[in-house]
Amino acid sequence: MVVYFNNQFLPREDVHISPEDRGFLLADGAYEMLRSYQGYLFKAEAHQQRLERSLRELRLQGVDTSAFPGIAERLVAENHLKDRDATVYIQVTRGAAPRRHAFPADTAPTIYIAATPFEADLRQQEQGIRCILQEDLRWGRCDIKSIALLANVLAHQHARDRQAEEALFVRHGAVLEGTHSNFALVEDETLVTPPLSNRILAGITRRTVLDLCGELGIPSREAPVTPDQILRAREALIMGTTVEITPVVRVDDHTIAGGRPGPVTRRLQHGFRRLTQDRTRSGVSPA
Ligand code: PDD
Repeated sequence: MVVYFNNQFLPREDVHISPEDRGFLLADGAYEMLRSYQGYLFKAEAHQQRLERSLRELRLQGVDTSAFPGIAERLVAENHLKDRDATVYIQVTRGAAPRRHAFPADTAPTIYIAATPFEADLRQQEQGIRCILQEDLRWGRCDIKSIALLANVLAHQHARDRQAEEALFVRHGAVLEGTHSNFALVEDETLVTPPLSNRILAGITRRTVLDLCGELGIPSREAPVTPDQILRAREALIMGTTVEITPVVRVDDHTIAGGRPGPVTRRLQHGFRRLTQDRTRSGVSPA
């Protein structure tokens, strides 16, 4: 497998990361995850722009993200992934330097990009998943796609331990998002998803779903969601690069709409599939 590491394309075995890398020691970095659908890099520009923003917010300088979509395309081609589905993972850290909290002077960032085969979990998308509610113990800048994911990892594992597939973070009585996905429910035919803030990631799938609602004539609203609303919801769903649009049919001990995915979710899934399978385009998709 060929990967990109600090200005070079090389076999993954030949990547050597310093034990002093601030990503390793301090989780001092940001990442992106995007999808390649049969060689079609979905929303590559939006991912690039979000990474640019994460790096700016972390004051991590000296990275030209404009080259990344091209690098991702080359990795997909060189790893023979153009006729199948894949993920592209991009990570940037503040580089290797003796361990201090202060930013190091004159240290080049570490950049790693890899394309890996990936298959969406179609069974979950068809049947729906179970979620648990978890108190949100993350930091106050969840709008930054930071590599510091320990609270997400612990919450997600807690869900797995309880035979659920995702945990939904709750803070001060508001359901915010999943550990690696955004959340929405359907109330009176209207899709409701928590508004953007420092408490959630501005998901690119979330944005795509809101745009799809506009296109398909599905009313939508960005508004706070309470756990109580889930009890009354007609449908619930999570959205993300890896989960795409996955119905939620159970939250804790409550079954949503008889445990079957609903019609609004199905329409959005079909609309989303149409966008990702758009064969009139190739290479990097527009934002
Ligand atoms: N996660 N919220 C969180 C906390 C996330 O980590 C993600 C994505 C999302 C959805 O964002 P998008 O639609 O842009 O993928 C929301 C990636 C896939 C991950 O960490 O694996």
